[in-house]
Amino acid sequence: MKEYQKTYELYNGVKIPKVGFGTWQVKSGSEAYNSVVLALKNGYKHIDTALAYGNEKSVGKAIKDSKLPREDLFITTKLPAEIKNYDEAEIAFLESINNLGLDYLDLYLIHAPWPWSEMGKDCRQGNVDVYKVLEKYYKLGKIKAIGVSNFAPKDIENIIENCEIKPMVNQIGYFIGMDQSETIEFCKVNNIFIEAYSPLGIGYLLSNEDIKNVSVKYGVSSAQICLRYLLQKGVAPLPKSVHENRIIENSQLDFVILEEDMKFLDTIKGDPRRWN
Ligand code: A2P
Repeated sequence: MKEYQKTYELYNGVKIPKVGFGTWQVKSGSEAYNSVVLALKNGYKHIDTALAYGNEKSVGKAIKDSKLPREDLFITTKLPAEIKNYDEAEIAFLESINNLGLDYLDLYLIHAPWPWSEMGKDCRQGNVDVYKVLEKYYKLGKIKAIGVSNFAPKDIENIIENCEIKPMVNQIGYFIGMDQSETIEFCKVNNIFIEAYSPLGIGYLLSNEDIKNVSVKYGVSSAQICLRYLLQKGVAPLPKSVHENRIIENSQLDFVILEEDMKFLDTIKGDPRRWN
């Protein structure tokens, strides 16, 4: 079995394929439909979307049309960051599962601890309230694993202290140069699995000369170095592409980066992402 189809195990025993296919910024309609069709055709089993991406219906249609057995797939979606009360969260969950045309989700996450327009706002009570919806549908078997995204240790502590079921996953922005050591250490101690979104720094890491030099040594692309680096960190990268050649390239990760090169990649610092 290829590395990207192998699985990690969450603390509740659920298996999660090592590489997920990301769909952030993939437009609803033919773009999202075609890219997920291509990902599934090329062997990806793990697809990551969110209600806020606006593309769940297209993702769901691609999943349905693939005719792949549901139990072979791992599908994640997220509760919008702006929703911080129980009733609206329940409506949003039902909308997502309906959009996707699924009977159950493999993973459902709170998208962020605060609304995107109010980053850092104290939403402790709101996060506890919406997490109770995740717990309800987890217990009903409608969600196989529950978790959070963009949560700092203090945000996760709030959930652990005030809810019943510890999150199984924290999905964070993580790539070469991005220091997430504090959150990763906290999650490791608490047995919370890390997923890495924007593993290529939304593409901006690919022009980094140091990464290019390492990629030449291994006869692979810079994207493959970025993804393999994350696998060797024990996390699940979620690369996004709408091009088949890149979708395939991002799944070819059956090589090993030597420890000395991992250490060198660790010395790269800074977030190259630019927002238009
Ligand atoms: P595209 O979708 O046009 O292929 P991230 O996963 O960090 O969010 O990065 C996604 C960005 O990187 C997208 O702009 C995507 O472009 C680009 N990308 C994804 N895979 C590759 C690759 N193998 N080579 C070059 N660019 C890539």
